[in-house]
Amino acid sequence: MKVTAAVFEGVGQDLVVQELELEEPKAGEVLVRLAASGVCHSDYHVVKGEWAATGPLVLGHEGAGVVEQVGPGVTHVEAGDHVVLSWVPYCGRCEYCLAGRPGLCQQVQQTAYENVMADGTSRLSRAEGTVYSYLTAGSFADRVVVPATGAVRVRKDAPLDRVALIGCAVATGVGAVTNTANVRPGDSVLIVGCGGVGLSAVMGAALVSAAEIIAVDLNDDALDRATALGATATINAGRESVPDRVRELVGEDGVDWAFEVIGLKETLETAYALVKPGGTAVVVGQSAEGVRIELDPMLMSDREKSLIGSNYGSCHPARDFPRLVELYMKGKLDLDQLISGRGTIHDINDAFAAMGRREAGRTIIVH
Ligand code: APR
Ligand code: ZN
Ligand code: ZN
Repeated sequence: MKVTAAVFEGVGQDLVVQELELEEPKAGEVLVRLAASGVCHSDYHVVKGEWAATGPLVLGHEGAGVVEQVGPGVTHVEAGDHVVLSWVPYCGRCEYCLAGRPGLCQQVQQTAYENVMADGTSRLSRAEGTVYSYLTAGSFADRVVVPATGAVRVRKDAPLDRVALIGCAVATGVGAVTNTANVRPGDSVLIVGCGGVGLSAVMGAALVSAAEIIAVDLNDDALDRATALGATATINAGRESVPDRVRELVGEDGVDWAFEVIGLKETLETAYALVKPGGTAVVVGQSAEGVRIELDPMLMSDREKSLIGSNYGSCHPARDFPRLVELYMKGKLDLDQLISGRGTIHDINDAFAAMGRREAGRTIIVH
């Protein structure tokens, strides 16, 4: 069948909207008609060449839609089901899956991370040859074939153009706080970077009743959104000293938890510097290839300050996505605060440009 998709052809180039051929789902695969797709900085990393990826590649990995067809052997969803896409189509059998950590699944490293299905091929093509699907979720398209575990069923009355955000930003940000860190009521939390993922971390901190939720960004609009989502204080890093303000707010020792949600050397080092003895900095933002940070190991051994990583909010998509949808439907996760505008697939390059200008909020592509 024909699909309309936004294709990455090479570093620094605009995505090109074009018609592609999509094969039917094979065994263990699901065809989804996409309703909406969020634009995430991880797509932009590819466009900017900060992460190596070979084109042609349909970008987008934060989508939601309706199942149209399932391949042989798929039993967990059927045509008509509403699904949120997950970019860790876990195998369920490897050591990491068995330990409840599907975000680290071995099969995902060789399939989704290589933009190919379980058999090593892609379902997308055009006259010139194969086209790949980013993280096998390639959601800047009106239809996509994904591995079965990449389609997570959610309740049908949830608006797809909002719950699409759960597939990356919300799972990653909320999960970093509630799964990876397991922040406790009354803890103090610093969140550096308030894009879609960082604002979701703010929501997660509010959800678990962190006492102090300090949000940092360069953009006042992003900080206003953070306040609306429960931040108790905001710092504009362009105008104020983040260390000075944090110490003023919580005392010289710093915070219990600092979440870095950008992926820059400077902000990673600041986040680590601002956790108290026994506290933990969590690396959520994904850096450009080649970024290195410098830390004083004495602060680890002597002050017991930890630095940990969080991929996809350490989430289990099949368990967590329906719960996050439920929280949205009950008014406990204000996904609307994350959204700055809506557009069609033809607006995709403008959405990246807005991200490049550090405009606040996420663009939702509606198919
Ligand atoms: N200090 C403070 N805030 C900054 C700085 C800085 N030096 N540089 C950028 N920011 C802010 C931007 O203003 C923006 O609000 O960080 C935010 C980043 O948000 P987005 O670009 O929307 O990124 P997002 O999609 O949230 O992803 C964040 O997580 O999953 C990864 O690959 C993703 O590395 C990216 C990160
Ligand atoms: Zn993402
Ligand atoms: Zn696995």
